[in-house]
Amino acid sequence: MKVLTIVGARPQFIKAAIVSKKIKEGSQNIDEIILHTGQHYDENMSDVFFNQMEIPKPTYNLQIGNLSHGAMTGRMLESIEAILMKEMPRFVVVYGDTNSTLAGSLAASKLHIPVIHIEAGLRSFNMQMPEEINRIVTDQLSSTLFCPTEQAVINLKNEGFDKKNWINIIKNGDVMFDAAMYFAQLALAPLFNVPEKFILATFHRAENTDNKERMEEIILALNKLNKEIPVIVPLHPRTQKLITQYEIPIDFFVCEPLGYLQMLYMLKNALLVITDSGGLQKEAYFFNNPCITIRDQTEWIELVEGGYNVLSNASKADIYESYELMKDKTFDSSDDCFYGKGQASSKIVDYLKENIN
Ligand code: UD1
Repeated sequence: MKVLTIVGARPQFIKAAIVSKKIKEGSQNIDEIILHTGQHYDENMSDVFFNQMEIPKPTYNLQIGNLSHGAMTGRMLESIEAILMKEMPRFVVVYGDTNSTLAGSLAASKLHIPVIHIEAGLRSFNMQMPEEINRIVTDQLSSTLFCPTEQAVINLKNEGFDKKNWINIIKNGDVMFDAAMYFAQLALAPLFNVPEKFILATFHRAENTDNKERMEEIILALNKLNKEIPVIVPLHPRTQKLITQYEIPIDFFVCEPLGYLQMLYMLKNALLVITDSGGLQKEAYFFNNPCITIRDQTEWIELVEGGYNVLSNASKADIYESYELMKDKTFDSSDDCFYGKGQASSKIVDYLKENIN
């Protein structure tokens, strides 16, 4: 049975890595074809993930990146359609909420190829975020929705998905949790000296980076925190470009984007995480780090309700206040992990096996 997996952006490589591994281990009757849209293309945003996690080389690489949302999605749609018409897989598998997810689900559903959406049902309820648009449309176009959390299932029910009898809703847990637990055993120290205590921070969301004032406030906050405890920031290319453009002075340590195994090393050793990333909020929790999220909403509401994560305005004062609130917090996430028991990817493979025909 042919299954075509569509990836394009950094977090999708991590999720697909663990599912691909389980497919290989779990069934010889599933032939997985990987299509990389090229949305992320730098060595340290793409290749390093394929190498470190031994993801099979993509059969197709569309090299469509660095374009506006419409142009990127449109070109992906056209190219993915041509490949699907040639391959005619039994299923198309898409992950998360990127432009690659949207293009893949749209192309497949128009060809009546069933779409499996992994990480379905998440909502921020902020339609200004491109990711929110992508995930809502993808859920609508899918035939199977694998939900990472109870909240994701509730969100889908609230939107009436449980009344659509052509859609399967399955709560399987979070494949990112499976990936983090498996690859943490292989964690690698980065090439720079890692201090004993440090804050790990990342930011790249359009809502933070595309607004000079917000970005300046975040940087001022990190500069201030760095006087108390070293702050380490692996910079997303988007953030790097805009920092240079806005000419904002930085006092903390910045480095190129890290590979996943280096990122896991940092997470294992950090004291606290500050981020606007979706994935890193959870990874902070997996490794027992309190987290400050510089966004107005989060899809991972259970972390905020549990006190493991706090939302902060993009303002120097608010970020510092959140730091004061969170810095001494300790917990053990294995006590009540919201994201399953590391079986999320096996459940997806079981589903594929049940549907071999
Ligand atoms: C995308 C996803 C987001 C996800 C994130 C993970 C969408 C709408 N957003 O955001 O959900 O959390 O990936 O990282 O799909 N760039 C490079 N080198 C690269 C990749 C990107 O220089 O390897 C540049 C692009 O040219 C562009 C900018 O970074 O100028 C942003 O890239 P883009 O793919 O638009 O979105 P992300 O911000 O990465």
